[in-house]
Amino acid sequence: MFERLEQVTPDAILGLMAAYRADPDPRKVDLGVGVYRDARGETPVLAAAARAEAALLAAQTTKTYVSSVGNVGFNEQMTQLTFGAAHPALKANRIRTVQTPGGCGALRLAAELLRLAAPGTKVHVSTPTWANHEPLLGNSGLALERYPYFDASTGGVEFPLMMASLERLPPRAVVLLHASCHNPTGADLSEDEWHAVLELIRRRDLVPFLDMAYQGLGGGLEADAFAPRLFAAELPELLCAVSCSKNFGLYRERTGALHVLGSSPGSADAMLSQLARLARGMWSMPPDHGAEIVRRILTDAELTASWQGEVRTMRERVVALRQKLLQQLREYCPQRDFGFITRQRGMFSFLGIGTPEIRRLRSEHHIYLTDDSRINVAGLREENLAYVARAVAQVLKS
Ligand code: LMR
Repeated sequence: MFERLEQVTPDAILGLMAAYRADPDPRKVDLGVGVYRDARGETPVLAAAARAEAALLAAQTTKTYVSSVGNVGFNEQMTQLTFGAAHPALKANRIRTVQTPGGCGALRLAAELLRLAAPGTKVHVSTPTWANHEPLLGNSGLALERYPYFDASTGGVEFPLMMASLERLPPRAVVLLHASCHNPTGADLSEDEWHAVLELIRRRDLVPFLDMAYQGLGGGLEADAFAPRLFAAELPELLCAVSCSKNFGLYRERTGALHVLGSSPGSADAMLSQLARLARGMWSMPPDHGAEIVRRILTDAELTASWQGEVRTMRERVVALRQKLLQQLREYCPQRDFGFITRQRGMFSFLGIGTPEIRRLRSEHHIYLTDDSRINVAGLREENLAYVARAVAQVLKS
């Protein structure tokens, strides 16, 4: 049965993680997988999460099933975190939320819903987009197409080209947009640009699909949720996948949610019932542990304040690292403009260097980044900033 299956290469990001772990060189630097790292290079359990988890373990009396839509208290809290407690779409009772196994589960669940609603639907994704969007959405049977997004010459968004391309889409085409902290480029839309995209989506009758995996790590918890709040206030329908991996540090607990906005409370209810059935057919029920940790953090004023402080610390560290990396690159590589590094937001930047140089960074300097030149800025440390900048200068020179 399985003899004809061929060996496949590992996923690029996960393959890089494994190669980094196997490298014995003490100088090695991991700028690959998108996980936050502190000044010691560790990915800590957040203090608020550890306290919520201890309380959860002390209080939990059963491990019985929860439900296909997950932890209802978590879903309520996540809805408020994404949209704000007083959002008009909440008052109109048009938002429904389903807990999912991570942001990946939310993306996949949304893809299944799209396929159910309109089997021939195409999802339009940015060039480039997170590598895993392709299998997560495509494996459900949806076709993916690309719209222009990143401008390598400025390190920003090719906004006029992107808009011209979206303008040509047929009605009901689905447009996937990164709500904040674009992965892999770090190049985000401005608020004015979001307004322009909103107008285009409305005029062309497109279906917006937001992916928000880094809320809080770009401009702050409120600022990063600008797009879902704007779209949910102005549009009839919306899909929004969110993740608690980075901002709650719950990576391996697989904690995320899918928000859907229906054109009426009845339509939202129907969407929710379909999502529950789809979830039941894929994973039956999402894992509760991380969701209950998040629920406890967000329903306790002291834990919420402590968590918000930790998110601020993560964000400020990444912003400071961006400035320091730029300084070092200016010193070692004055002939090249890396100014985009401090304009981009979130954990990622695109260095804009070629594959041969990236391979040499890995083989000669033990610096790991993905082949598209994405770096996880949070993987840098005071101690290795100069080492990394010097290595980049060296591979660019020779
Ligand atoms: C990344 O982009 O590196 C993260 O989102 C982790 C992953 O699963 O790829």
